[in-house]
Amino acid sequence: MTSGGDAPGMNACVRAVVRTGLFHKMEVFGITRGYAGMIDDDIHKMDSRSVANIIQRGGTILKTARCKEFMTPEGRKKAYDNLKKHGINGLIVIGGDGSFKGAQIFSHEFNIPCIGIPGTIDKDIAGTDFTIGFDTAVNTAIDAIDKIRDTADAHDRLFIVEVMGRDAGYIALYSGIGTGAEHILIPEQKTDVEAVIKSLQEKEKRKKLVNILVVAEGDDFGGGNELADLIKERIPGFDIRVAILGHVQRGGAPSSMDRMIASRMGYSAVNCLMEGNHNVMVGIMNNKMHYTPLDKAIKAKQRINEDWLTMVKILAS
Ligand code: F6P
Repeated sequence: MTSGGDAPGMNACVRAVVRTGLFHKMEVFGITRGYAGMIDDDIHKMDSRSVANIIQRGGTILKTARCKEFMTPEGRKKAYDNLKKHGINGLIVIGGDGSFKGAQIFSHEFNIPCIGIPGTIDKDIAGTDFTIGFDTAVNTAIDAIDKIRDTADAHDRLFIVEVMGRDAGYIALYSGIGTGAEHILIPEQKTDVEAVIKSLQEKEKRKKLVNILVVAEGDDFGGGNELADLIKERIPGFDIRVAILGHVQRGGAPSSMDRMIASRMGYSAVNCLMEGNHNVMVGIMNNKMHYTPLDKAIKAKQRINEDWLTMVKILAS
């Protein structure tokens, strides 16, 4: 099943899980709409053809949902009864930390092995260098910011670009570095807004009017609009516009990297299940498959390399 926010590459991963399972003579089922579909018995047998021609498609053919009912013991019992009815005795969950939390509780309650695969554009999961969808989302953001820079340059404007990332600044960091942003504001680091103002005032004095600020939606100071209001008030000389990229970052054909990691993770997840593992996430670290207990993958967030933020300041002078 796919669960939580969709991410480009989820389909490539579903394909890998289904075909690897079938190769090992397993019966493979797809659960539609994540935990919600498990509760509603939206469970269907998958064959090799059911995952044909999907490796290149964004979204998820299994659909996805965020499900409140699964947070209740009654909801989970219904879900378990449905799995039992179909003779399902192992679960592979492609999703983010919320989905893994659900899998963990479920596995403990009903002793059913759950294997997690990190599928989220946010890259906010430990135990893996990359999550499925992140690379595509960053490339989408970069493409948009490059276009924004053209118009910013034509008008001598300051643009604030808000990218996704409720608790994680990786999309902001990678897309900001990749587009030469003057400032990158992320939730992992307390935003020193006075330092941003000071640096912009100094840029204004040097007549550097074209500036791109990339802010993660979950930054502690606020989103793009809040930042724009403050800068307008403090430095009226700047002509400011805000662009909120939003869900465009979640769609589109997966990049080559996302297709590759999705295929590798899906293939390994089935092997992981066959080895008898319970409650682990299959990730890739230093280009090697890596198993991490689900609770560790959820709790320990990835760490931002502070030196990258120093680099941003130096490169954007
Ligand atoms: O977790 C992925 C993500 O895209 C976040 O970056 C974003 O905050 C959230 O999902 C948006 O969720 P929804 O699609 O439910 O509005």
